[in-house]
Amino acid sequence: MDCYSIFCFSAFAFFLLFLLRPILKFFLSPNSNSNSSDNPTLPPGTLGWPYIGETFQLYSQNPNVFFASKQKRYGSIFKTHILGCPCVMTSSPEAAKFVLSRAHLFKPTFPASKERMLGKEAIFFHQGDYHAKLRKLVLRSFMPETIKNIVSDIETIATSSLQSWEGRSINTFQEMKSFTFNVALLSIFGKDEVMYREDLKRCYYILEKGYNSMPINLPGTLFHKSMKARKELAQILAKILSTRRQMKHDQKDLLGSFMGDKEGLTDDQIADNIIGVIFAARDTTASVLTWIVKYLGENPNVLDAVTQEQQSIMKRKEECGEDKALTWADTKKMPITCRVIQETLRVASILSFTFREAVEDVVYEGYLIPKGWKVLPLFRNIHHSPDIFPEPEKFDPSRFEVTPKPNTYMPFGNGTHACPGNELAKLEMLVLVHHLTTKYRWCTMGAKNGIQYGPFALPQNGLPIRLSLKI
Ligand code: HEM
Repeated sequence: MDCYSIFCFSAFAFFLLFLLRPILKFFLSPNSNSNSSDNPTLPPGTLGWPYIGETFQLYSQNPNVFFASKQKRYGSIFKTHILGCPCVMTSSPEAAKFVLSRAHLFKPTFPASKERMLGKEAIFFHQGDYHAKLRKLVLRSFMPETIKNIVSDIETIATSSLQSWEGRSINTFQEMKSFTFNVALLSIFGKDEVMYREDLKRCYYILEKGYNSMPINLPGTLFHKSMKARKELAQILAKILSTRRQMKHDQKDLLGSFMGDKEGLTDDQIADNIIGVIFAARDTTASVLTWIVKYLGENPNVLDAVTQEQQSIMKRKEECGEDKALTWADTKKMPITCRVIQETLRVASILSFTFREAVEDVVYEGYLIPKGWKVLPLFRNIHHSPDIFPEPEKFDPSRFEVTPKPNTYMPFGNGTHACPGNELAKLEMLVLVHHLTTKYRWCTMGAKNGIQYGPFALPQNGLPIRLSLKI
């Protein structure tokens, strides 16, 4: 390029920048506003480039580095722009509670592809009366009174899973997914599930591959294959529904709860919510179990304490001449193991954040959250705040000997959409850890550190381990 061309190019670039200055100023200015309640202003932060926003900054690194550096620079509430949407992110417990508990101001929001795959009638996408009705039905089948009746069935699934891993090198996450899938089916269909397990599994495994795909429904695309599998899944569910209708007695599982509802759910509503619950229940619980295996392996003192607690439950049952099978009452005598689960949920924070959308202009602490903007409560930042949890990176279950302050610990969310499956998740983790620690030992294979996001935080490569029976 000669000098003249360089001059012309520079002049043109300068002219372009001059024209675009007001737009760039809007997107890149950190915070030119003051914040007062009378004259609310946008939170501090940058919006990045038009449309692209700061999506590359977020996804070119560990997303938590992005959140932490923003928080350091702008404080606990800041604006950004990701995946084509302007957002407000917040890492303050009070703001997270405010957003999650005011359903009339902030509605749930998901990518279009997820809504089409799970089904538009699924609980996650709704508010108001329909949401409240679904929640009542879901909570009814996952409350302690109901799930205490399936402890021994969960135990059977746990022991047969562990037996099948014994003597093999396994990918912990993949195997845990299989365990949590079977428990989810048990809680949804009761013992009927065994008949349909393999077909449901085959279809669901194809469906899930499309969860984060582009919603292009053309032959050959991931989305198309997933939609086909979803159709097949709905047909299997229709078959299960019709068999159930021929049986007279009420069942206490989730399907029974949906079918028994006086107001009546349509078959499509039932199918969407069953697929939705499998989606909510499986990978979440499997990720946490994978982290438990990792943290127990890295902390021999904690592993010893858990093993002793679990062995003492077995011993006491033997001494009292009780049946060997675990009971609901036994799971209430596992305080150390419970704290390990709590601390794992905190450190791993597998759901780093959740999404809501402002349904109208909202003013919070003098900041304006405009209608249509996404709002992200950052669970992980709250769980990793040194002011709330000293030495936050340290795995220390004993910190839960003291109950955390209100709203500072929300691994299962908070407010209107908080997790209705949390009791079941904790129960299945306790049962699996009981058998894992009393009967088996394991060692990690390959790289020991590193986290992958897909979308839940997971140990690198799903934590390959080798499991063997204790002698
Ligand atoms: C350790 C495992 C689990 C974790 C960490 C977890 C976490 C969460 C969180 C944070 C939310 C709220 C999301 C939001 O507000 O946007 C949620 C919602 C939900 N979870 Fe869980 N969950 C787990 C296991 C389960 C299980 C086992 C089930 C079912 C048996 C389940 C069913 C649901 C459902 C149906 C919702 C939607 C509730 C609504 O929209 O009203 N989850 N979960």
